[in-house]
Amino acid sequence: MQQKIIIGFVLTLIIVVFIPVYWAMEPARQEAALNRQRDEAVARGAELFSANCAVCHGAQGEGNIGPALKGTRLSENTLKKTIARGVPGTAMAAWSKEDAGPFHPQNLSDLVTFIKNWDGATPSSAPPAEPPATPAAVSADKLFANTCAACHGVNREGISGLGPALTPGSLAGLSDDEIRNTILNGRSATVMPAFKNRLSPEEIDALLRLIKYTAP
Ligand code: HEC
Ligand code: HEC
Repeated sequence: MQQKIIIGFVLTLIIVVFIPVYWAMEPARQEAALNRQRDEAVARGAELFSANCAVCHGAQGEGNIGPALKGTRLSENTLKKTIARGVPGTAMAAWSKEDAGPFHPQNLSDLVTFIKNWDGATPSSAPPAEPPATPAAVSADKLFANTCAACHGVNREGISGLGPALTPGSLAGLSDDEIRNTILNGRSATVMPAFKNRLSPEEIDALLRLIKYTAP
């Protein structure tokens, strides 16, 4: 009998004390989980930014060829749409898979979360970034469209003020090694980026064959 009373007492204690305490702590737990998810998205977005956007928008988002993005007043929705679709007729390419770019919806929202939470976290000091999923056997055309067309033009015709034409005719004066070297190391004091950490030797050779030996 006494045992039953004790058990009943313990159960009542649980209901009266522990459940409300647990309940009271639930919002804090949820908030912590949300913060953690946001921090992870910011870290992923920072890597994507330094690998793909910093060349034009500045390593600290301070702006360069493209406008400053740190502290932007654009809404998350507008940011996401602009990154996904690009700004036609400018160097700002479309980045979403739907528009033949490299990014999944998750990549886009990570980038937006990063840009909106830019609290002095320096993307340039982020761990070396993986290039955005480039399938192993990607075609040179696709690679060019995703990686080079923003500055050299979708038909390799060049973009005034951004990058010169890349056609057999325009490259006749450069040897294969000179071209390979330019793609690997970029051109200092110009916006031509170095791709040695972003493209494999096979991808660079494929691009070389495309631009030097095939008419657009
Ligand atoms: C080759 C250069 C280049 C690259 C690479 C580039 N951008 Fe841009 N971006 C631009 C230019 C130029 C504009 C301005 C277009 C215009 O005239 O409206 C722009 C505009 C934008 C805007 C609109 C900003 C505003 O205030 O109107 C956003 C957002 C943006 N870029 C995000 C990104 C992100 C994120 C990446 C990387 C995934 C990226 N850009 C890569 C050149 C670039
Ligand atoms: C952010 C803009 C930008 C991007 C992206 C870019 N380039 Fe360039 N590229 C330039 C500029 C600017 C020059 C001219 C540099 C100079 O004045 O010497 C150049 C020069 C070159 C040259 C030398 C052309 C010559 O006639 O001297 C080659 C080859 C080249 N780029 C290949 C590529 C390839 C391949 C890609 C993509 C993997 C690429 N570039 C991506 C801006 C860019």
